Amino acid sequence: MKLSLSLPGGSYDILIERGALSRAGAVFSLCRRVMIVTDNGVPPQYAQTLAAQCKAPYIVTVPQGEKSKNLATLETVLHRLLDAGFDRGDCVAAVGGGMVGDLAGLAASLYMRGIDFYNVPTTVLAQVDSSVGGKTAVDLGGMKNVVGSFYQPRGVLIDPDVLTSLPPRQVSAGLAEAVKIALTCDPGLFALLESQAPEAHWEEILSGALRCKAAVVEQDEKEQGLRRILNFGHTIGHAIESCEGLQGLLHGECVALGMLPMCSEPVRRRLQAVLTKLSLPVRCRIRPDDLLRAVLHDKKMRGGIVTVTTVREIGRWEMQEIAPQELLPLLGVIAEGGEQL
Ligand code: GLY
Repeated sequence: MKLSLSLPGGSYDILIERGALSRAGAVFSLCRRVMIVTDNGVPPQYAQTLAAQCKAPYIVTVPQGEKSKNLATLETVLHRLLDAGFDRGDCVAAVGGGMVGDLAGLAASLYMRGIDFYNVPTTVLAQVDSSVGGKTAVDLGGMKNVVGSFYQPRGVLIDPDVLTSLPPRQVSAGLAEAVKIALTCDPGLFALLESQAPEAHWEEILSGALRCKAAVVEQDEKEQGLRRILNFGHTIGHAIESCEGLQGLLHGECVALGMLPMCSEPVRRRLQAVLTKLSLPVRCRIRPDDLLRAVLHDKKMRGGIVTVTTVREIGRWEMQEIAPQELLPLLGVIAEGGEQL
């Protein structure tokens, strides 16, 4: 299955196919220097499989986790490019999850004012969402993604077979992003997630979610308006994340929780059922007023107003600008002991 994303700056293909990693050389231009960026949580054979198809491969392996998403690691990657003599005709390829893709994409966008970038996502979260659309970034000063660029890849290769090596909790967390896009844009995909085991339907889930995402990005590449729907669940999700190195919830788990208050009651009931089916949380132990404080601390909030997306009907969304205090009564639905659904 091949999708393509067309933008004024050019278009690129997204190949979704089991076993595609071992055929990357037929899809990407690898007869040049290729800096493969991966992390030490990704099985090394994935980067090696790609390297075996490159004329002049280099592999840089950074430590796993958000802690690597910083300027120091970015500098390490840029130095490796310089030391290996990369020029403007060479390229960078990410093999890993969202952190690796964001970091490698940013390095590619900066080195010599931009060299080609390929993305080979190996987590559900990256395959279903972050590898497509050209967002690159590192964190700074405790703020996620605050230094970055919009820099589209030359191609994205998605091999669902690599998902078999992921821990089940990571799979569930990534699926929260598929639920997000289904809720806002695709009732058919939502019904599939409600009724089927994801492991038996990877290609449908990934292609359904990415088809929606590509359509959104084609209309609003730089997130001036419509693309904000892809942040559905993230305002509260990020607040939960920041309350909480504590309970150690994963990003996708926080997004799952963050979507619940933003839905009408009938949608929330279906969402709660599908999240439970996917082993995602529907309650957390954070008090609503602590969550509100975290929303208020979000430096992205402009002039005391927050833009939120709400879903009253599956596949239909509304965007509203509200004062964060208006979120407080809604937050009870995810607080332990809060309003029952
Ligand atoms: N993951 C949200 C976006 O790409 O806009």
